[in-house]
Amino acid sequence: MINQTPHIPVMLDEMLAAISPQNDKIYVDATFGNGGYTKALLDAAKCQVIAIDRDPNTQSRAEEFKQIYGSRFNFINGCFGNIEQLIDKPIDGVVFDIGVSSMQVDQKERGFSYNKDAPLDMRMSCNGLSAAYLINNLNEKQLADIIYKYGEEKKSRQIAAKIVQQRKIKPIETTKQLAEIVYQVIFKKNGQPDPAARTFQAIRIAVNDELGELDRGLNGALSCLNYGGRMVVITFHSLEDRIVKNFFNQKSGKKSHVSRYLPDINDNKPNVFSFCSKAIRPSLAEIEANPRAHSAKLRYAIKNDKETK
Ligand SMILES: C[S@@+](CC[C@H](N)C(=O)[O-])C[C@H]1O[C@@H](n2cnc3c(N)ncnc32)[C@H](O)[C@@H]1O
Repeated sequence: MINQTPHIPVMLDEMLAAISPQNDKIYVDATFGNGGYTKALLDAAKCQVIAIDRDPNTQSRAEEFKQIYGSRFNFINGCFGNIEQLIDKPIDGVVFDIGVSSMQVDQKERGFSYNKDAPLDMRMSCNGLSAAYLINNLNEKQLADIIYKYGEEKKSRQIAAKIVQQRKIKPIETTKQLAEIVYQVIFKKNGQPDPAARTFQAIRIAVNDELGELDRGLNGALSCLNYGGRMVVITFHSLEDRIVKNFFNQKSGKKSHVSRYLPDINDNKPNVFSFCSKAIRPSLAEIEANPRAHSAKLRYAIKNDKETK
């Protein structure tokens, strides 16, 4: 058995109930992290798990799993947006636990946290363009759009203008510098949520192309799933949940109501899912024990038993 984990897996029982692991089946944990879900799957049935994570720092944890579970476990360091290229066999279930892990947030030098002064990095994969690059090189409109779209921040334009003004004086290279810029626009009050949270979320989503990854991951995973296979997705904010909800609705033949100003989407695709759940929320007891769970939503869907016309 693997030891206690520093990242507390969210909605573990609900995830297991939704994916319903069976002996001799193959599952993909698309967001391995500290392996909480992988462990639960491998302990629940004599199944195989292929785990994916884009963060190379998860490799050592994966090696521990390999020692214990042997050929029942395999790990791939890559992005789940490429799942179709990464997985070379049909699978019976896939789970996505979207976002960053507690380890990533707690490692100061990764630059995810506005509470810890560190280089402005935020790259889950440890490669590509960093947050500092985007902050210092995008134009004011691009920054405002990102902060508005991905952070749902009403003061996005003022924050973008301040960033551009400040970077003319000195490059913005640390989390503290960025947080202080936000506080110049939105006053930080004791006992209130930190006003930097929305801007940091937005920049993190842009750095890691998180919504693009989610879209590609869902579509790719659906192609890998066997008939009757299950897809489970846990999200932590409304932008992600909306993508999952619309995807499940479209692929189960339901109309997807995107906006009251636009016609409903009904793309005449086959009804590839025979079932899709409503959003399932964590229990109050779980939220009390693990406050990180408070915004979690789990949705799952089951692929048809056979091809639909
Ligand atoms: C919330 S944690 C998962 C925690 C895991 N369920 C556990 O119990 O330990 C999310 C993990 O997904 C990884 N991740 C996020 N986006 C990814 C992507 N597009 N492709 C692969 N891994 C990704 C992150 O690096 C992080 O380790």
